[in-house]
Amino acid sequence: MDLFEKIVKNMGPLGMHAKEAHGYFTFPKLEGEIAPRMMFRGKERLTWSLNNYIGLANHPEVRKADADASAQYGLAYPMGARMMSGNSDLHEQLEKELSEFEHKEDTILLNFGYQGILSAIDALVDRRDIIVYDAESHACIIDGVRLHQGKRFVYAHNNMENLEKQLSRATKMATETGGAILVITEGVFGMSGNQGDLKGIVDLKKKYNFRLMVDDAHGFGTMGKTGAGTGEEQDVQEGIDIYFSTFAKSMASIGAFISSDKNVIDYLRYNMRSQIFAKSLPMPLVVGAIKRLELLKTRPELKANLWKIVNALQSGLREAGFNLGTTRSPVTPVILSGTVAEAANLTFDLRENYHIFCSIVMYPVVPKGVIMLRLIPTAVHTLKDVAETIQAFKEISTKLKAGEYYAEKLTAVNV
Ligand SMILES: Cc1ncc(COP(=O)(O)O)c(C=O)c1O
Repeated sequence: MDLFEKIVKNMGPLGMHAKEAHGYFTFPKLEGEIAPRMMFRGKERLTWSLNNYIGLANHPEVRKADADASAQYGLAYPMGARMMSGNSDLHEQLEKELSEFEHKEDTILLNFGYQGILSAIDALVDRRDIIVYDAESHACIIDGVRLHQGKRFVYAHNNMENLEKQLSRATKMATETGGAILVITEGVFGMSGNQGDLKGIVDLKKKYNFRLMVDDAHGFGTMGKTGAGTGEEQDVQEGIDIYFSTFAKSMASIGAFISSDKNVIDYLRYNMRSQIFAKSLPMPLVVGAIKRLELLKTRPELKANLWKIVNALQSGLREAGFNLGTTRSPVTPVILSGTVAEAANLTFDLRENYHIFCSIVMYPVVPKGVIMLRLIPTAVHTLKDVAETIQAFKEISTKLKAGEYYAEKLTAVNV
């Protein structure tokens, strides 16, 4: 069989809807300045789908820092991988400031979160070691685990009893292989908004010998008193051995980092293939991240605004009878029941007639029969935006229950 023939015949679980969905449900184009109101297909829409949590994307100081750094350095500098010729004082300064902010000894910058954490997992464990990870972990963790040549055990999402069972199996196995144990979870789970039970996991350290890695992509900047993340929120930052976050959410940029003990970071500097064999972060991203971190630290009103909007949105939706699942973070899933076709029709109505743009999550990402609309509140939304959205959600939910969105199959959106 010809490889191209094969892949074109089977576009995969998401790609199979490409013909009907491309340009509208998938690969939509949001245009204009990043803000709660953006243009989609020529019309202004109230947008709840950008992880610009504390509103830094379009902050004038951030825009200026990005522009000045781009003018001064361009995108080339520094050229090469950090280890070879791509290091700079400013890369090291950002690492130092992130370490202080996360209360860890040292930090390594990563070009992207996805490749970074995957590669860190790959570097940290060898075939004798055992990985124990949460069943609802992000794809970057799953793919990191896939690279692992040794044993892995998955535990039921946030279920400490089940984690303990897996730890006990892993401990037995580790004595046989002579290896060690790495536990991996998310701080805030990006789909459900649920917080990982970091306190529960850290408690288990009293009984089992393992190291804990936390992907806090959605917790950094949003959780904890200072915004240091979910570890700070649950008062267990010290118990997190390897803290990971990305610049792609609260920092509204690109790049990521891992903070940990100095010798662990030194080990990663010399063993992480995604950093050794790839160009380092360009200077505008580094300078931009230094500015963003400064604002995160010195403007607590940004996070306070975020939480004002989160609380208004989540309590308003709950009062209107919506099921928001297990969220304990800004991530706001609205869980409804219906088919994929109903989900598409409902989203079309929401976008075209109510001018509200949020992400829609359908089967196979959520179970069959579940429609999940996912809203990401930010510090730059207003209470008026919240009220408008809750009213629209009440109306679409009534229509959904009345069967108004029913269709035999997904029909193409004329884009
Ligand atoms: C939980 C989680 N981890 C990692 C990543 C990857 O980060 P990046 O976008 O920097 O690759 C994301 C999303 O982008 C995420 O949601």
